[in-house]
Amino acid sequence: MTIDPRGKTRAAPSWHQFPDDSCKWIEERIMELARYTDPKLGGYTRLAFTNEDRLAREVVASFMKDIGMEVRVDPAGNIIGKTNGKQADAPVIIAGSHIDTVKEGGRFDGIAGVISAIEAVRCFQLGNIATQHPIEVVVFTSEEPNEFGISTVGSRAMTGTLDKRLLVTLKNKDGLSLGEAIDFAGGDAKIISQAARKSGDILAYLELHIEQGPILENMGIPIGVVTGIAGISCGQVTVLGCADHAGTTSMNVRKDALVAAAESIQALERIGQRKSLKDTVATIGKMENFPNAANVVPGKVIMQTDIRSTQLKFVERAEQAFQEELRKISMRRAVNIFFNRLSIGPPATMDDWITRLIEESCQDCGTLYHLMPSGAGHDASHVSEITKAGMIFVPSKGGKSHCPEEWTDFRDIALGAHILAATILKIDERAKEVERNG
Ligand code: GLV
Ligand code: MN
Ligand code: MN
Repeated sequence: MTIDPRGKTRAAPSWHQFPDDSCKWIEERIMELARYTDPKLGGYTRLAFTNEDRLAREVVASFMKDIGMEVRVDPAGNIIGKTNGKQADAPVIIAGSHIDTVKEGGRFDGIAGVISAIEAVRCFQLGNIATQHPIEVVVFTSEEPNEFGISTVGSRAMTGTLDKRLLVTLKNKDGLSLGEAIDFAGGDAKIISQAARKSGDILAYLELHIEQGPILENMGIPIGVVTGIAGISCGQVTVLGCADHAGTTSMNVRKDALVAAAESIQALERIGQRKSLKDTVATIGKMENFPNAANVVPGKVIMQTDIRSTQLKFVERAEQAFQEELRKISMRRAVNIFFNRLSIGPPATMDDWITRLIEESCQDCGTLYHLMPSGAGHDASHVSEITKAGMIFVPSKGGKSHCPEEWTDFRDIALGAHILAATILKIDERAKEVERNG
């Protein structure tokens, strides 16, 4: 018997003993990365393609090098640490996540997964375990929405689904293109297509992530085994009214874009609440008001919608219903409202075989687990298009995420890292099952 990282007595896993210093090792590295945040903003802000992000990328690469991994950066800026397997030409097993944050976010979203993946490799080294397949730890470029209006840049590029035209057409406020930003981060946008991996080159993908919701904590269960990831549509709403003097324009002749935008936000909220749309959630979390002056009737508003569901048909129905509401608001208020879908990612299903192996790893460790879908988006969603993918969740305190209060107990992360490591070994040992069963 041995003590697991959460302090409970359990049977020792068959493959090796979990290192005593795992919690501390993980905590030190997560806290070290938390130092690289924008001092001008609150919470923990490390937006992709900023100086803070570039510095943190070097730090995380140094964590990989410290344990002897070979590190390279692919043309999309993804950081890839590798350890060779006994069979050099065997397909790789990848574990990864991201280290960029949302504005005023937390210290764990993405970061817990990257550090756990490096910890899993460190466990193998400490246990003198040589895998058959090479193992890669990937830090994906810009998982979160960035100032170019697109998320999961690195995982889209790795799966060959990043539209190359966007590298030139998407620009930030300073006129910098997405391609130039990728170059700044350490990639090489000119040859981004070379970041795409062939599906046969990757045996499996695993991602540990904080849950970002309250379910595991409420159930008192330390591990979530993810069954699927919600589909997400992102859209842009442009409301064109007429800017005018706030003192001299009487109320009945105004074409106030901001008031029309406010009605649109409420309309989307009501759509998200429709029972017929089941688990659909709909949000407007970003808006710009022009000219944004106290004594001017607003003339223009630009907002972004985020609609999610585990079923694509509900995302599409919600989008259609929203556009009908926008038409009514535009007629009633005599303003023009345009809706432009920026992106849509269908829901992703995690692979049954990988899911079963994660469950087995939990059972081997005597750890309770819960099968659950993910409402949050992840790089695993894209990677699942080219290989078998699975995800492990660890609890979020109070269910909070994308905010400075985001917190996960380091013992839970260490336990998750242990399950991740155990699952990598099961995949490595039982790869033949895939060849047999397809
Ligand atoms: C990523 O954090 C997302 O779910 O938007
Ligand atoms: Mn996030
Ligand atoms: Mn994340």
